[in-house]
Amino acid sequence: MKKFYITTAIDYVNNIPHLGTAYEKIAADAYARFLRLEGHDVHFQMGNDEHSAGVQKEAIAQGMDVKKYCDGMRVKFEAIWKSLDISYDDFIQTSEPRHHESVKAFLKLLNPEDIEKKPYEGWYCEGCEAFLMEKDLVDKQCAAHKREPKWLHEENYYFLLSKYQQKLLDFYEANPDFIVPEVRRNEVLSLVKSGLQDISISRSTFNWGIPFPQDPSHVVYVWFDALLNYLTAVGFGQDSSEAKSQWKKWWPADLHVVGKDITRFHCVIWPAMLMSAGLEIPKAVFGHGFVYLKGEKMSKTLGNIVTPLDIVPQYGPDALRYYLLRESSFGSDGDFTWDNFIKRFNSDLANDIGNLLNRTLGMATKYLDGKIKKPATTEATDEDKVLRKTIEEILPKMKVALDYQKSGDINFHTALASIWEGIAAGDKYIDTCAPWKLSKEGKTQDIERVLYNVLDSLRNIAILVSPFIPGAAQKIWKQLGLENFTQQNFKNISWAQSDQFTVSVGQPIFPRIETNIVGAQLIAPKIKTGVINHAPTERKKMETPATPAAPATEQISIDDFMKVDLRIAEIKQAEKVEGADKLLKLQLDVGGEPRQIVAGIALHYKPEELIGKKITIVANLKPAKIRGVESHGMLLAASDANGLSVLTLDRGIVGSGAKAK
Ligand code: MSP
Repeated sequence: MKKFYITTAIDYVNNIPHLGTAYEKIAADAYARFLRLEGHDVHFQMGNDEHSAGVQKEAIAQGMDVKKYCDGMRVKFEAIWKSLDISYDDFIQTSEPRHHESVKAFLKLLNPEDIEKKPYEGWYCEGCEAFLMEKDLVDKQCAAHKREPKWLHEENYYFLLSKYQQKLLDFYEANPDFIVPEVRRNEVLSLVKSGLQDISISRSTFNWGIPFPQDPSHVVYVWFDALLNYLTAVGFGQDSSEAKSQWKKWWPADLHVVGKDITRFHCVIWPAMLMSAGLEIPKAVFGHGFVYLKGEKMSKTLGNIVTPLDIVPQYGPDALRYYLLRESSFGSDGDFTWDNFIKRFNSDLANDIGNLLNRTLGMATKYLDGKIKKPATTEATDEDKVLRKTIEEILPKMKVALDYQKSGDINFHTALASIWEGIAAGDKYIDTCAPWKLSKEGKTQDIERVLYNVLDSLRNIAILVSPFIPGAAQKIWKQLGLENFTQQNFKNISWAQSDQFTVSVGQPIFPRIETNIVGAQLIAPKIKTGVINHAPTERKKMETPATPAAPATEQISIDDFMKVDLRIAEIKQAEKVEGADKLLKLQLDVGGEPRQIVAGIALHYKPEELIGKKITIVANLKPAKIRGVESHGMLLAASDANGLSVLTLDRGIVGSGAKAK
């Protein structure tokens, strides 16, 4: 049994996980589950990164003690990870005593000649928790977080990273598999070749963190502390004999799974720190691509967030896991759209795997009372052989797809595609063998052979698909009348292993999403979690009690309603109306036609946050002059004691000029 220590990045806790941070955990989980099924002894590590300025700020904004806030967030994070079936073995918080011990022990090990106290001033981005160079700024803003960094002047302790340039280059050359995929390796190589700057490893203007042992007026810089979590988690710096044996067993890490934005921390600073301390360097860092939201970066700091809570309660963890893993290769970027999510759900999950299971169980119950015995091998027809071959080829194909050392990527999507080839083969096999015809011809033995082969294919598929959609795999297993699912591994992948199946018709494992009610279904969770498109501090407003329903007004006919020409308009420009505190002048595009309206929303929106929003307007309102400014329509907004919100479209697929009704 080979040990495998796999980690994800540890998350900042200034907000709950979003689809991007969840993608990383889902992917690492699928990989850990795959390794376990292969027979590896796996330690899968996750956790929270707590000593950041953003975390402290959010705790203060919520009027909470920072440690208590972090402990509360741990509960929320773990609840979300559990709801996504993430099978981590340990969860670390960087504020835990074991981590404080480990950081202190590590600082003692660092070569003292690699630490120096010196003054520094520069641009510091709290989103990145790092100093930025002038060249990293776009319009004076951090390109990643789209906000102005702060100019900081501090005297700090520095780790002399610049001394490690050549050592790192030599290390990359000797270990070509250390950085995957290739694109990340090239990025890191060119970064290191262009020269390295020393990095601050302490902060003196900030007090939330691990006291710097050499000088308690400083705390350890959050990134330096965060990277060390990988050591702490497997016992480093702790005295107990259990910690010591853990350390001996698991270090070095086999694979760090991190996002492309933080690959450089893991591939440059981290190995240099370990070299300085004389510790072994991890075997590989996989810098995965990002999940975008219709092409836009999703981030806690930008506030355009879709979270697992918006999807899992309604569609289940497997639907989200499947979508994210199936859409793109792990090394490349992917995109989340509700349209694609629903398409994939209905076609791949409901129609393909769900329907194959359902129709097979239906026929097994109808034709054979749910009792299907294994056929004699001598009976195998050509169709049987084709199905068997397709099923037997899945595992070798999956192994190739997921082997980043050979292919340079982790191709969850191709691994899934090969399972879906098996599903399609099962469907085709049923259509060709047509048990309904065999039934009319009274060929019960042939029906039994055909249905056994499909049921056994589904048994194999349940094991093969379990790293990706573990909940659904378990349901399939149960509906096949089998037991001991958790004890299965890839050794149980083989043709015709069961002597018989005893089944009945079960509930569909992926009931179709009816697209005509999707709008109504999707809005509900957004309101409940209250995090979409809202920065953390705005969230509190959303959680205030709902306004009581308005009293009923006079009823109107549909003809009366249709007299109001409601149109979708895109806001192109917005500015304050001089001398009127509450008014904004908006320039709109209504299906190519420019239009100006005046709206009483200036106390609730800054002009710049409205640009690009698609709103609904009453387009056939008589023009009016408001404070001397012409207004050709009226926008729709809702307001109550909690504030005002302009009615915008929740999906960008509808263009300006479209009629609303
Ligand atoms: N705390 C640091 C990591 C320290 S690891 C020693 C951090 N935290 S984070 O919360 O901002 O991000 C956690 C992980 O999620 C990172 O690997 C990051 O790259 C990843 N992602 C954040 N947004 C993402 C997407 N939109 N898409 C995919 N992954 C993304 O960075």
